[in-house]
Amino acid sequence: MITYSKLLSAFQLGSLRLHNRAVLSPMTRTSAECNGLANQLMVRYYTRFAKGGFGLIITEGIYPDSVNSQSYKNQPGLADKEQAESWRPVVEAVHREGGRIIAQLMHAGALVQHNEFKPIAPSAVKPVGTMLEEHGGSGEYSVPDAMSKSDIRQVIDNFAHAAQRAKQVGFDGVELHAANGYLLDQFITKYTNQRTDEYGGSTENRIRIVVELLDRIRSVVGQNYTVGVRISQGKVNDFNHKWANGINDAKIIFEKLGTACPTYIHTTEYKAFAPAFTNGGPTLAKLAATYGGLPVIANGKLGDPEMAEQLLASGEAELAAIGTSALVNPDWVNKVKEGIVLNRLEHQFLHPMATLREDEIGM
Ligand SMILES: Cc1cc2nc3c(=O)[nH]c(=O)nc-3n(C[C@H](O)[C@H](O)[C@H](O)COP(=O)(O)O)c2cc1C
Repeated sequence: MITYSKLLSAFQLGSLRLHNRAVLSPMTRTSAECNGLANQLMVRYYTRFAKGGFGLIITEGIYPDSVNSQSYKNQPGLADKEQAESWRPVVEAVHREGGRIIAQLMHAGALVQHNEFKPIAPSAVKPVGTMLEEHGGSGEYSVPDAMSKSDIRQVIDNFAHAAQRAKQVGFDGVELHAANGYLLDQFITKYTNQRTDEYGGSTENRIRIVVELLDRIRSVVGQNYTVGVRISQGKVNDFNHKWANGINDAKIIFEKLGTACPTYIHTTEYKAFAPAFTNGGPTLAKLAATYGGLPVIANGKLGDPEMAEQLLASGEAELAAIGTSALVNPDWVNKVKEGIVLNRLEHQFLHPMATLREDEIGM
């Protein structure tokens, strides 16, 4: 019988002691109040994963400002004191169960799924694909306004203030969402970033805003606070995207992130264990570890605990983030410990709501 000795072993992530290496991957729930306040439904939702044994919980993407960062209706915010305070019961409930919880900060950029404001982005490029219907959007995306330098400074300020608010209400850390096609990934991605200033052009320039943001957040939250950054190649609206210069781009991106001293890098790929570029080549997680020199959380099809154990045991990453399998197994870690068969994912559970019923998932 497999003992999952790596997956179930404790890990020191910066100043945070984690009971094990299983992380709840961030998943949008669109279950907040329409003014962005977290609520009791969300308290119950997040508590399940703490009770279920996850060493670390990363929240859904939370918008940092009330100007233009909100992607979805009923997405929660950390844009002001009231929104921040609404998270306190969530954080306290998770802590009561012995869990750790990190707030993911996410700016939509061009990927806004509603018509309440004009989106902003590095360049005025209409996103490919169509809005996500399950997340409340429909039809084509709007063409965003290209950000001025003062918009960039404002966005950096807004993120930093949101990080500060997250710390004030007791979150154990913050994760900067620079993946999956949202604002920061729009800067990293060549075809959505056509700028000719120091934030566009070369890969070094396209990662600049993320590095500046990490530096700024660090200066606000202090050296010992946990600050992560999530990176991907694929996007919610362009699933198969790959960085044009392969490993050379990975080297530049992860080295630059490493210089900003986040606590960890979180990589997400469709399959965490698959080569990032060419057959037989390294995974994105391994490239992040090699060039970033930091602990790595790997994500992508690790819901089978044997795959997660293998990935961790082979040194590809220190932590494994579990997404969809956790939705049907909020007690994923406890089940793995006890050798209980995991529930299989049915499509209805992919709906981005925090309303999973205990009887449906066998809790
Ligand atoms: C409904 C849903 C919402 C998601 N929302 C977010 C999000 O807010 N932030 C984020 O970084 N990733 C988000 N993701 C991506 C997941 O964190 C994860 O990367 C993805 O499910 C792949 O992991 P898995 O193979 O373990 O399911 C979401 C995924 C799903 C299914």
